Amino acid sequence: MAVEPVVYGASERPPRGDYARARDDYTCPQNWSAYTEADHDTYRRLYERQSALLPGLACDAFVDALPSLGVKDRIPQFEEINERLTPVTGWEIVAVPGLIPERPFFELLASRRFPVTDWIRKPDEFEYIVEPDVFHDLFGHVPLLFNPVFADYVQRYGAGGLKADDLGAGELLSRLYWYTIEFGLIQQADGLRAYGAGILSSSGELCHSVTSTAPQRIALDLQRCMRTRYKIDDYQATYFVIDSFQQLFDMTAPDFTAHYAAVRSAGDLAADATIASDSRITLG
Ligand code: PHE
Ligand code: FE
Repeated sequence: MAVEPVVYGASERPPRGDYARARDDYTCPQNWSAYTEADHDTYRRLYERQSALLPGLACDAFVDALPSLGVKDRIPQFEEINERLTPVTGWEIVAVPGLIPERPFFELLASRRFPVTDWIRKPDEFEYIVEPDVFHDLFGHVPLLFNPVFADYVQRYGAGGLKADDLGAGELLSRLYWYTIEFGLIQQADGLRAYGAGILSSSGELCHSVTSTAPQRIALDLQRCMRTRYKIDDYQATYFVIDSFQQLFDMTAPDFTAHYAAVRSAGDLAADATIASDSRITLG
């Protein structure tokens, strides 16, 4: 096949996953019959542990939609999820062999197809994996695709990514993905909650992001966010907080071209930087 695997971050490792199975758009059939009993058991144990941690830490929209993933005791078949998801928000999930390059990733999102890695971590990687697997992708990302406003945001992000790529601003926009779709926090009436997939699928960072006094929390500001580098090998030093998915959608609706220029001239900030204009959110 014509596709090349993608190398993530600074890693020297070849990416996992068999890219020979991929079509030109990087999607592949979910190789469901290849899962072993041990694979299903890993999923079942991850699901059980993570779902028990959600109360008081995960946002309501996530908790409400989680049952829509269906079976908890084995890896779901993606078609089963699509039967419920597509009628609600027009999204479908598609299998991919692992991480894929930015441009095809943006193209899938822009057409309301969310790429889900089909392999699952090995038992000795239960606590931590470097690359996203089917548990992260399904449990972390798919429940909020049932929320109409959030689902529209992700689609618009994909379209915006294609444009950013043309403007050479892909890296800046990827920080918005990181700090919202992966590591976002939301202020609910009853307190701060997580909505980012990287947090919601992590046993340690879920509690850390919402309750620890170590990281800083800042009201989401687009340029501030796109200036901020992020950590790929540790808990985030900074979390950006939104008030609602509608606020996130509205804030990101305008053309970003001027934002990219402003962010470039303002320069990057370290993951733990503090600046005077930050609107900081304190706990309690
Ligand atoms: N409005 C952005 C632009 O014009 C695109 C975008 C939408 C980016 C939603 C992120 C999220 O570039
Ligand atoms: Fe993710």
